[in-house]
Amino acid sequence: DTGITAARDLSGTRIVITAGGTREPLDPVRFLGNRSSGKQGVRLAEAATARGASVVLIAANLEIPAPAGIETRLVGTALELQSAVTEAAVGADVVIMAAAVADYRPAAVRGDKIKKDEAGDTLTLELVKNPDILAGLAAAREPGQLVIGFAAETQTDPDRLLALGREKLARKGCDYLVLNRVGWTEGFAAERNQVRVIDSAGVIVAEAAGTKMSVAGRILDVVVAGLG
Ligand code: CTP
Ligand code: CA
Repeated sequence: DTGITAARDLSGTRIVITAGGTREPLDPVRFLGNRSSGKQGVRLAEAATARGASVVLIAANLEIPAPAGIETRLVGTALELQSAVTEAAVGADVVIMAAAVADYRPAAVRGDKIKKDEAGDTLTLELVKNPDILAGLAAAREPGQLVIGFAAETQTDPDRLLALGREKLARKGCDYLVLNRVGWTEGFAAERNQVRVIDSAGVIVAEAAGTKMSVAGRILDVVVAGLG
């Protein structure tokens, strides 16, 4: 099962998808990052394209090759991702925030390499919060536009994971939230994924387990129904 159906049920729609993980520079040679590979977001972009959508992929530090034939904008940091997605979202039917956005960035980016002899035996970094891009997109969305978030949680208990997801969705104000568990071996770099999708009322509208391509297909089924 490739998850790609023959249906061209997304033709005529414009979809913006963010993928990958942002990196926040500390100095010219170092960054704070996360383990997102970008696979789930890239599979979403490929599946949506196969179903006829016109896709803009906003790619942050992908660990896999950028897909051929899909309009892609490369970004590095959360602030770069925010400006790219905000611009691409104008007139889009759907925005999917699959990227793992750094919650904090270094308060100051040093112009020169941090040296051990200045820092000593411990080094304290001051970080400042990044804007919540998803909440901003949801608050500013155009009538009829669907805004979809992801929630990466390390919670193992499925009921508690769902409760966290419902709280998160309420905080973000988005239309759907894709819940997935992440850990040392699950979620990020894996070939397979297991998700539940909740709607703005917190109701589970889809569940999927399988390859990231088949999971992408299920998420897009929800998008098609939501665009209804
Ligand atoms: N997100 C975002 N901007 C941020 C942080 C996250 O747009 N500054 C988006 C992610 O792309 C994802 C969703 O918000 O679609 C949820 O991300 P997640 O890290 O699970 O939630 P947070 O709100 O950051 O909460 P926490 O990490 O504390 O669980
Ligand atoms: Ca976060």
